[in-house]
Amino acid sequence: MAIRPVLRMGVPLLFEPSEAVQQFNTPELHSLVQDLKDTMAHEAGAGIAAPQIGVSLQVVIFGGFDTPRYKDAVDIPFTVLINPEIEILSESQEAGWEGCLSVPGLRGKVSRYNHILYKGYDVQGNSFQREVRGFHARVVQHEVDHLKGILFPMRVADLHDLGFEEELKARADYLNPC
Ligand code: NI
Repeated sequence: MAIRPVLRMGVPLLFEPSEAVQQFNTPELHSLVQDLKDTMAHEAGAGIAAPQIGVSLQVVIFGGFDTPRYKDAVDIPFTVLINPEIEILSESQEAGWEGCLSVPGLRGKVSRYNHILYKGYDVQGNSFQREVRGFHARVVQHEVDHLKGILFPMRVADLHDLGFEEELKARADYLNPC
């Protein structure tokens, strides 16, 4: 197990699309997932994607957290999602505040689809899919964006809605950070 340094916005690798995983259930893949788990726990993140620790593969993990920061999200089970695909089930979007371990201290308001189906594989190579809404759907869209080289500030429609968390707390519309 290893806590790995989290790359921050500005490192070119974070803007690159990641490669699909070709071989499942390998020692390397298990080791990558363990490092992601250790790093997410250490940083108290809601999720983390492999490129954030410098590995350009389509692997994300999220959920399983019970910290007060994510009190709305305790129902998201810990999930390893590999080679993900997202199907949008409704055009309806919701704006919400996001943060990212690669953009420490900043929060931004991002619109995400409210109702999606996501599909992918676990570390053993078993396929699975889930239909989800709300915060769960938001977390998945945020993490899958990392695999396309997209960080949340690139999704902030109005840059007045991007700022430092400490300052944003004074705003009336600053609610439910995730
Ligand atoms: Ni992120």
